[in-house]
Amino acid sequence: MESSLQRKSANPRATSVPNDLSAFWLPFTPNRAFKRAPRFITRAKDMHYFTPDGRAVLDGLAGLWCTNAGHNRDPIVAAIKREAEQLDYAPAFQFAHPKSFELASRVAALAPADLNRVFFCNSGSEAVDTALKIALAYHNVRGEGARTRLIGRERGYHGVGFGGISVGGIVNNRKFFGTLLAGIDHLPATYSREHQAFTKGEPEWGAHLADELERLVALHDASTIAAVIVEPMAGSTGVLPPPKGYLQRLRAICDKHGILLIFDEVITGFGRLGHAFAAERYGVTPDLLCFAKGVTSGAVPMGGVIARESLYEAFMQGPEHVIELFHGYTYSAHPLACAAGIAALDLYRDEGLFERAKKLEPVVAEAAMTLKGVPNVLDVRAVGVAVGIDIASRPGAVGKRGYEAMERAFHEESLMIRVSGDTLAIAPPLIVTEAQIAEIFEKTARVIRAVA
Ligand SMILES: Cc1ncc(COP(=O)(O)O)c(C=O)c1O
Repeated sequence: MESSLQRKSANPRATSVPNDLSAFWLPFTPNRAFKRAPRFITRAKDMHYFTPDGRAVLDGLAGLWCTNAGHNRDPIVAAIKREAEQLDYAPAFQFAHPKSFELASRVAALAPADLNRVFFCNSGSEAVDTALKIALAYHNVRGEGARTRLIGRERGYHGVGFGGISVGGIVNNRKFFGTLLAGIDHLPATYSREHQAFTKGEPEWGAHLADELERLVALHDASTIAAVIVEPMAGSTGVLPPPKGYLQRLRAICDKHGILLIFDEVITGFGRLGHAFAAERYGVTPDLLCFAKGVTSGAVPMGGVIARESLYEAFMQGPEHVIELFHGYTYSAHPLACAAGIAALDLYRDEGLFERAKKLEPVVAEAAMTLKGVPNVLDVRAVGVAVGIDIASRPGAVGKRGYEAMERAFHEESLMIRVSGDTLAIAPPLIVTEAQIAEIFEKTARVIRAVA
């Protein structure tokens, strides 16, 4: 039989192989099911994706919670083009280009209080690992190197790096990957269907769950704990808004024990909850804030961490020629990402998209709650421009009804939604109109009925 090497060398110019789906190993996707019935996208504009045959698909999830300004917006496209012609790449180690400083200042200006030092990376996962490393190093440079424990939360999603899956609380993201980081503990999830079902916004029940941090402090001692990391609103496990008062309590307990508080705002940043950051919505300032996705409206990969000034200052000691933090990525502050980021922030400001999200919140919640009573709908949660919908699992086949719903939405209803197990997520770009919000939930209702 001909080897794959021979096959390749037989036609060295065959760089693109139409109709061959075998080479690409799709991330977070059931590959065999996908390759049997692919869902292709070749173009996008504003609120829509387009399939190869030109069918418009309404984007119900801002790509993957990231295209907050909508797709292929002219100013962002133009900024990327201009930058690509001018500066393809510049190292951020020992050198820099001006747009990295400009974007850092712009991001810092959006963050509350003294969160004003910005470290750039390329994704949410890198942002989380960066924040965890900064937290550990911060205690170290202050002479509290025994503070090594990191505390996450059940049902938390912090990307897929070893740090992120260790503090994360999703069993399938953890169980295949060995022992993970040592010295990790978890707070309980804040969701209870019994106490919170069909809540609009933050549920009344659950603030007391922050007190579990006191239990972990009693168990491990504060002198061993570096940081607590939570998503202010847990997105990936189904839009779980924080109970009223929960984040404030977490902040108070961290302060009491000298523990750093990290907010993972990879989803909640850049308008999703009607504010630049959820920290502002909840009036709680973390010590480190992770962002990604919406910073470029998804157009170029980028992530980062915003640190409190005092935290940054703690590193600024020792001889001036010595690096203060031994961490960074080849593509930190990539010129194309910085150009896209500045253009995206301009768009958010000029079009008032964060305020728009705030105004749309009751419209989204109202439309979402029309799903109550649709067969198999167990709960609907709505906060900002984000909705989680739990549907009942098929007996003995967890995730099957959810998968069928997502497939059917794409093929039959021309709607893109996200599914994780039997939980559907909806979080469209912030330019979504009220008519499109109604369309999204009418289509979703039809889909859920069809897979009953
Ligand atoms: C809260 C949170 N943190 C981290 C990540 C990981 O981001 P990325 O996929 O860019 O690595 C995500 C992705 O959805 C996220 O929602």
